[in-house]
Amino acid sequence: MKKLIAGNWKMNTQAQGAAALTMDILKGLDADLPLARAVEFAIFPPCIHLPPINAMLKGAEIKPALGAQDCSPHANEGAYTGQISASMLAGYGCTHVILGHSERRHGLGETSETIRAKAQAAQAAGLVAIVCVGETQAEREAGRQDEVVAAQLEKSLPPEAGALNTVIAYEPVWAIGTGKTATTADVAAIHAMIRKWLSGRVKSPESLRILYGGSMKPDNAGALLSAPNVDGGLIGGASLKAEEFLAIGRAVLQDRAA
Ligand code: 13P
Repeated sequence: MKKLIAGNWKMNTQAQGAAALTMDILKGLDADLPLARAVEFAIFPPCIHLPPINAMLKGAEIKPALGAQDCSPHANEGAYTGQISASMLAGYGCTHVILGHSERRHGLGETSETIRAKAQAAQAAGLVAIVCVGETQAEREAGRQDEVVAAQLEKSLPPEAGALNTVIAYEPVWAIGTGKTATTADVAAIHAMIRKWLSGRVKSPESLRILYGGSMKPDNAGALLSAPNVDGGLIGGASLKAEEFLAIGRAVLQDRAA
């Protein structure tokens, strides 16, 4: 399976900056066809930039997939002020949506039950749901990471989850935006636990991608992405510079060549 390198832009970029970043990624992929063929890239700009970026991507032959950072749990249109439905996202070229990011779970009090409803709505609209899980620093120090992540998976994944409509992103909360990265051994251990947990519970568990996220940069990506059961990365800060974002993808190729 190809690795997926996903850039979560979070609440960054104004209109011009978003267009420039998209253009830089397109140019970078065009200039490195072996990279564009070997690795799958996806970008997750703020929702308001999706229509213009979708228009830019339409004109490009080699391009990243487009996704959103959240969607409504409501599948049908209606009186839900401020919400955006999964089918609206699909209408603007989105194929993926990030759900249950820790900045929403912990920052906005989003529950696993809500995340499951959102994943269901996303999958019904034909989107791949990237469901985020991960423990806090206190939970890690108490050795509870496996239990916490398993409980999040249990409650957040809809019954229809499978390799074609779901990606799991393991993002330890203490590693996000802090410069602290989980060790490769720690990442391998929890990804193995997630793979085992998936088996018997979802469709095609062996080919369901499990991403690592949390301070992934070009210099640590090679080691993290070569760990067993790490099928890609969910990148925050380093996805805001096209060169760094693509360099993380290049780490996959270098690791293969080594
Ligand atoms: P950083 O790469 O900035 O640590 O963010 C990770 C993340 O939260 C991606 O969703």
